[in-house]
Amino acid sequence: MMEFWRSLPKPFLVLAPLEGVADTVFRRIVASCAKPDVFFTEFTSADGFCSPGRRAVADNFVYTPEEKPIIAQIWGKNPETLFQTAKEVAGMGFDGIDINMGCPDKTVMLHGGGAAMIDSPDVAAAAIQAIKDGIAAAGKPIPISVKTRLGNKKSVADTWLPFLLEQGLDALTLHARTAKELSKVPARWEEIGKLVALRDRMKVHTVIIGNGDVKDASDAREKYNMYGVDGIMIGRGIFQNPWAFDTSDTPHVGTPRELLDVMERHVRLFTQVWGNHKNYAILKKFYKIYVNNFHGATDWRVRAMATNSADEILALLKELKAAQIV
Ligand SMILES: Cc1cc2nc3c(=O)[nH]c(=O)nc-3n(C[C@H](O)[C@H](O)[C@H](O)COP(=O)(O)O)c2cc1C
Repeated sequence: MMEFWRSLPKPFLVLAPLEGVADTVFRRIVASCAKPDVFFTEFTSADGFCSPGRRAVADNFVYTPEEKPIIAQIWGKNPETLFQTAKEVAGMGFDGIDINMGCPDKTVMLHGGGAAMIDSPDVAAAAIQAIKDGIAAAGKPIPISVKTRLGNKKSVADTWLPFLLEQGLDALTLHARTAKELSKVPARWEEIGKLVALRDRMKVHTVIIGNGDVKDASDAREKYNMYGVDGIMIGRGIFQNPWAFDTSDTPHVGTPRELLDVMERHVRLFTQVWGNHKNYAILKKFYKIYVNNFHGATDWRVRAMATNSADEILALLKELKAAQIV
């Protein structure tokens, strides 16, 4: 089981954790177009999971066999809640637990989580240990990994990354920007290449996953050839192309009609899985992916954004398809 990361093909492809986007529904939609080798859940607060408000965050841990293998991503700095969350999550059938040490969100950082941990290595080490202990207490050995950035306000890669490699991690994902940079500057892939070389020099077995600005599987292959990473994580690329994980020699290019068909499946699955439990407005985030690349798409998208229910959007899709524009 602990061999999970090392048993994957090279380069393996990972769908990034995307909070508010990549829930069980969207992950199943991605899997139905072109399946990545590994999925991540959205990040989940360990404090929240261990509080009376657990229900609000526990949806993040819903998954189906279509989304396997899947890693549960958690965040937090409190060893007690990290221990408890890891213990429970290890019993839920996940293939690993990842702790977020890169999120630039102000609220997360104010709680000492995400990228704030980069400036507090002792807290980070205690968090990793708490998760390891939680996994051990569950008696279901699964791997532990970290997803991080180069630094917080400025790059501290020279000290932070060797420190992480000393923590006995099974995998490490580097999003090659600082937290302050958000995603506004190009990812510094040469830093990811340096991390691979450092890992080799330190003779540790941590699997390295590079992340930042990768569009699709063929772009990932280029990054693999240039930087020698074990795996590549793709986030926003999936918003440009639901078939981003297609590894075939002639990757599928979705027609406007196919995109609308995927959209219809997405809306129906969302309704089936979440009913009224999740707000319909969440679905609107996806409409710019799907209503695209045909004459008049902008106007149809405006109309899609003005809908207020799944029934309304399904009726609009029916009208659009009947109009035979696409
Ligand atoms: C909408 C959105 C939500 C995100 N949520 C998470 C998250 O829950 N956990 C995490 O580690 N990173 C999160 N990220 C960061 C991505 O996982 C990824 O590191 C980042 O987008 C860079 O990769 P890309 O250039 O391929 O998009 C999020 C990014 C976006 C755009």
